[in-house]
Amino acid sequence: MAVTYFSTNYQRSYDLRRTKFYLLPPTRLFFGKESIASLPTILEPLGRKVLLVYGGGSIKHNGIYVKLKELLSNFNVVEFGEVQSNPQISMVNAGAKICQEQGIDLVLAVGGGSVVDCAKAICAATFYDGDAWDLVLDNTKVTKALPLVAVITLAATGSEYDCGCGLSNSATHQKMAIIHPLLFPVAAICDPQYTYTVSKRQTAAGVADIISHILEQFCVKESNLIADGLCAAVMHAAVIAGKEAYADGFNYDARSNMLWASTLACNSLCGMGTSFQAWACHAIEHGLAAFYNTTHGEGLAILTPIYLRYVLSEDNAPRFAKLFAHVFDLPYGKNDLAQAQAGIKALEDLFAALNLPRTLSELNITATYFEEIATEVMTHWHLDQGMVPLGREDVIKILKRAL
Ligand code: NZQ
Ligand code: ZN
Repeated sequence: MAVTYFSTNYQRSYDLRRTKFYLLPPTRLFFGKESIASLPTILEPLGRKVLLVYGGGSIKHNGIYVKLKELLSNFNVVEFGEVQSNPQISMVNAGAKICQEQGIDLVLAVGGGSVVDCAKAICAATFYDGDAWDLVLDNTKVTKALPLVAVITLAATGSEYDCGCGLSNSATHQKMAIIHPLLFPVAAICDPQYTYTVSKRQTAAGVADIISHILEQFCVKESNLIADGLCAAVMHAAVIAGKEAYADGFNYDARSNMLWASTLACNSLCGMGTSFQAWACHAIEHGLAAFYNTTHGEGLAILTPIYLRYVLSEDNAPRFAKLFAHVFDLPYGKNDLAQAQAGIKALEDLFAALNLPRTLSELNITATYFEEIATEVMTHWHLDQGMVPLGREDVIKILKRAL
C-alpha cells in the first residue's frame, strides 16, 4: 500500500547528515530449504572437535538431530543439551569447562535464541579464567572466543546474526547481556523447515519479539528515511507471515518469511544511522524475566502497546502514523495522533488474535518486585536517552499499567 505522509514536520526527523556508521556483520548467512546441507563445508576449516549445544529436546522432534548425525559423521561431537529458556550463567560455566577440558575447537548451537545465546557465552567463557558472570557485568573482559556456528530453529530473536546474548543469574535475580563483536557467529544457518514444529505459543511469542525489535529501533529521537522504511517493511512481513505461520505451522512460505524477518529485525540494520536506541521494552522485560522467568516474547507483547501509548505524543505521532499505516494497511487518515493510536490498537488486536497474554496478571505477576526491577533497569540501561526520556517512576508506571 502506498504510504501517505500526514504531516509536514516529518522532514525534521529524517536526517542522515549527522550520522556515521560502520557495518560489517562477519557472519556468513545460509538461508533457505536444505541450507543445513552446507554444514560440513562450513565446519571443515574450523576444526574437528565440536561442542553441540542444544535445548530441552526439540531438536530430537523436528528432524534436525538425525540430520546432524548424518552431516557430522566426520567430526568428533561432544553433546551439551538441556539449555533452558532464559539461559542460566551456570550452564555457561558448565559448557566452558567442557570446552577447556576437552580441547573443543568450535561450538555448534542448534535451537532457539536461548541455545544460541548460551553457546555465544560459552565461546567467550572458554577463554576466561573465572565465573562467566564477570563477562556479563563487564563485557570488555571478553578477549577471545571459540568460533560459533548457529543453526536457528525458532524465528524470534535473530541471535544467529548478531553479537549479543541474554543471560540470567537466578542467584542475583538479574538478566543482562554480553554484547561483543567476538560473539558474532562465524556462520548462521536458517533452514525454515526446521521451524515447522515450533508450537503456536512460541510462534506467537516470536512474532511479538520480532515486532518489538523493530519498534525498539524505531523509537528514537532522530531517524532517517531508509531506517524507517526498513522497519516498516520487516514489521509488515512479520505481521503477515506471523499470522499465517500461526494458522498453519507447515506453511513454508510463512515460516521462511518469518525467519528472514527475525534475522533482519535484530542485526541493527533496521536502525542504522538513527540516534540512540533505548530498547525500553526489552530493558523492562529482562527485569521481569529475572524474577519470573517469563517467555521473552510474551513479556514484550504485554509491555509494547502500553509503552507505545505512554510515549506517543503530537511530536512523534507522524512517524508512528506512517509506520502503522504501512504495517497494518490502515485506511488513510488525516489526523496523525488518531492514526498512530489506531496503529497501536491494530497491534493489540494482532497480539490478541495470536492469543498472547495482554496483562502481567495473566502470568501471575504482581507488583511485588517492581521497585527492584525499576532500579535494575535504571542501573544498566539508558532509558533517559530514548525517544522520550524515561526515569524510574516511568518504568514503575508502565509496569503498573501492565498489571
Ligand atoms: O529447549 P527446546 O527443547 O529446544 O525447546 C524450545 C523452547 O522450549 C522450543 N523450540 C525451539 N525451536 C523449536 C522449538 N520447539 C519446537 N520446534 C522447534 N524448531 O521453543 C522454546 C523457546 O525457545 P527459546 O530459545 O527460549 O526461545 P527464543 O528463540 O525466543 O529465545 C529467547 C531467548 O533469547 C533472548 C531472550 O532474552 C531469551 O532469553 N534474546 C536474544 C537476543 C539476541 N541474542 O539477539 C535478542 C532478543 O531480544 C532476546 O533478548
Ligand atoms: Zn527480543
